[in-house]
Parts: sequence; C-alpha cells; structure tokens
Amino acid sequence: MAVFLYLGFLMFGIIFLRFIDNNGLPRNWPFVGMIPTLILNLHRPHHKVADTLKRSNGTFFFKGIWFTNTSYLGTSDPENVRYILSSDNSVYLKGSEWLKQFDIFGEALFNSDGEARKHHRKVFYALDDVLTHYISIQRHKSKELMASPNEDDDFNFVKCYLTGHEITGPTPKESLIRDNIANFFLASVYTYSSTFTWFFYLISKKDMVEIKIRQEIKRHLSMKQVESLQIPSNFDDLSKLTYLHAAFNETLRLFPPIPFEFRTCTKPDFLPSGHRVDRNTRVLIGIHAMGRMESLWGEDCYEFKPERWISEEGKLIRESPSKFCAFLAGPRICAGKELSFLLMKATATAIIHNYNVHVLEGQNISPKNSVLYQMKKGFMVRVKNI
Ligand code: HEM
Repeated sequence: MAVFLYLGFLMFGIIFLRFIDNNGLPRNWPFVGMIPTLILNLHRPHHKVADTLKRSNGTFFFKGIWFTNTSYLGTSDPENVRYILSSDNSVYLKGSEWLKQFDIFGEALFNSDGEARKHHRKVFYALDDVLTHYISIQRHKSKELMASPNEDDDFNFVKCYLTGHEITGPTPKESLIRDNIANFFLASVYTYSSTFTWFFYLISKKDMVEIKIRQEIKRHLSMKQVESLQIPSNFDDLSKLTYLHAAFNETLRLFPPIPFEFRTCTKPDFLPSGHRVDRNTRVLIGIHAMGRMESLWGEDCYEFKPERWISEEGKLIRESPSKFCAFLAGPRICAGKELSFLLMKATATAIIHNYNVHVLEGQNISPKNSVLYQMKKGFMVRVKNI
C-alpha cells in the first residue's frame, strides 16, 4: 500500500511540475506570473536559476506578481555582465532596493554608488597600502628600534581615518566608521571561510588534486618551523603555486561565496543580447550559474578540474572577470581579490603541509538558501598530524 501511495505521489509530482514549468522554463501565469515555480523551488534557488539561465541561452525575464515590483531579468551571459558592470555604464546601480535588503552594511562601501563609492574605495586601498608599508617597516626594524619606538614610525591607520588625512579624507561621522569596519570584516570573513570549506570538500573527493598540491608545495616552498607548525618562510614564493591557485579558481567557479549580484536599471536600455530592460527593472547577475554553463566551460563544467586553468606551458590561464565572475567585474570588482589569494594560499599550504584532513562519513552536504553560498550544516573533518 505504502509503495502505491509513494508511486502515486511521485507521478503527481512529475505531472504537476511539468504543468508548472514549460520545458523546464517557468510558466507565466495570469496575475501571479512565475511565482508558482519560485515557490516550488524555494529549497534550491541557486540550482533553479542556473538551470533556467542555461535553458534560455543565458538571459531570462522572470515575471513576478502583476502590478508588483517582483519581476527581474536574470543573466549569465558574459557580454551582458561586462556591459552592466563596465566603468562607463551608469545605468545599472545598486539602488534603493539593495540598500533595503543589505542595510546591515550601512552607508559604507558595499552599499554606496557613484562618488561616495569612489571615496570609500580609496580609503580601502589606503588601508591596504598603509598596512603593507607598516608590515615591511616592522620586518626590517632592529630590536633597538622596537625597544624605543619613534612616534613617526608608529603606524595608526585608524588615527588617520578618525582625525582626517589627505588620503582618507576629512573626519567621517561615527556611523560611517562603524559601517566601514563591519564591511571589511563581513567582506573578508564570510567569503574566505566559505571558499575554504568548499575547497576542502572538493579536494577530499579527488585524491590526485591533494597529491599534486603537496608536490607543488615541496617543489617551490621552503618552510620554517614556528612553534609546532611548518609555515612558508617566504610569502613571495606563494606566487609560484600555480596548481594551488588553479584549485582555488576552480572552487570559486563552482561555489562562489556571493552567488548572485543585483542591480537596478535606472533608465530604459538594451543589453548586448538584445533584451530590452525597462526603468526600475531589477537585474540579477547569476554568478553561480555562470560557473556552471556548458557554453562557457565545456561539457565537463560540473567537474572540479584545476587543470582547466593551466595552459600547455604550465602557466595559469587568466579568464576575463566577466566570465569568471566570483569577484565581480568592472570598477566594483572585489577590492580584496589579490589579498584573498595570498591569504588562501598561505593558509592552505600550512594546513596541507602539516596535516591530513579526513572528511567524516555520512554528511549531507548542500548549500544554504542564502545570499551567501555557504554549507547548510557545516562540514565535519578530522585533522591529524602528518
Ligand atoms: C574568496 C574571497 C572573496 C570573494 C569571492 C570576494 C568577492 C567579492 C564580490 C563578489 C564583491 C562585490 C560585492 C558587491 O559589490 O555587491 C566584493 C566586493 C568587495 N570585497 Fe571581496 N571577496 C573576497 C574576499 C575579500 C577580502 C579578503 C576583502 C578584504 C580584505 C574583500 C574586500 C572587498 C571590498 C572592500 C569590496 C567592495 C568593493 C566595492 O564595492 O567597490 N573581499 N568581493
């Protein structure tokens, strides 16, 4: 009896889905638009967006409820993405919808458009430059100097920012300082931890990848002992780790920490694909979908294959940011991209060189249904010294 009931439900489900979707594409119903498809796929939004964009040649207009602002145009077409995000395009902005949804970021870099954004970005790079400068001073300082610090050598970026400086600009208000610190923290911590988790998940499925990473570390890095750990003795050598870089690119292609990016169209426009976009239409850039398009990455696009990033000469293949879009493209490209690779490689080498990471059996690995592409239930591993 139970078997018949189960089969009955299964048949009903299949027929119902076919009825709701039209050859795999959402059906547009009177008044409610394509919302039924959305509701049926609430448990796997990333998969549904990727599948819909693939079936519609990379661009699809999703109709929401009649007379409400719930429609959007989704695209994973690199030409459209390049056009929407290019520096001379001021038509597509984050806009007020974005601000409402991401008010946690306040008025700082992530939420700003136009001149305000340019200023915040300058502050970010100033922070990066000053930190780099500070680290190099500290490295070369003698022990005597360390014992009697000179006021001029004393780095204090926060002081510059708080009291006003030619690079950081005039003293900002307190809420902006708070928002900027929250931005830098969230920008780096979530993206970095999510990439790392998927990275270890993917290499646990392919022993050969881990073996190749270990061989590369042995070939190119000299290690020094710091307490019980061996870590790279020279961070510049990390740039020689082409295969490890390729493995991170491949992780970010399949599991980008930020799976979607939204913009609002501020005046009527046409995309390079020929689609018309009306004023106030929301545009979704399917970053996650782009990494899974056969038309962009070939038939093996679902496979984790660092080799696809390495040329015949053994060099890293640099894809255009509007195709490999995990860090976005154009003037809003991630300000911490280079730093991220440095940090990820440094941490990965320290872990892989010192430990064996064993994935615990029986875990159900799937992504969260969220604006960040993290694992739903975390990832359990057992770490053992080598
Ligand atoms: C794997 C790691 C990372 C990934 C995949 C990543 C990805 C991204 C993406 C997609 C954006 C665009 C977001 C938007 O405008 O809506 C972004 C922006 C940004 N990221 Fe990252 N990020 C990473 C790590 C970092 C780190 C480590 C830092 C800082 C230390 C950082 C700093 C920033 C900043 C400041 C922006 C704003 C840029 C702007 O709006 O002009 N990111 N990142």
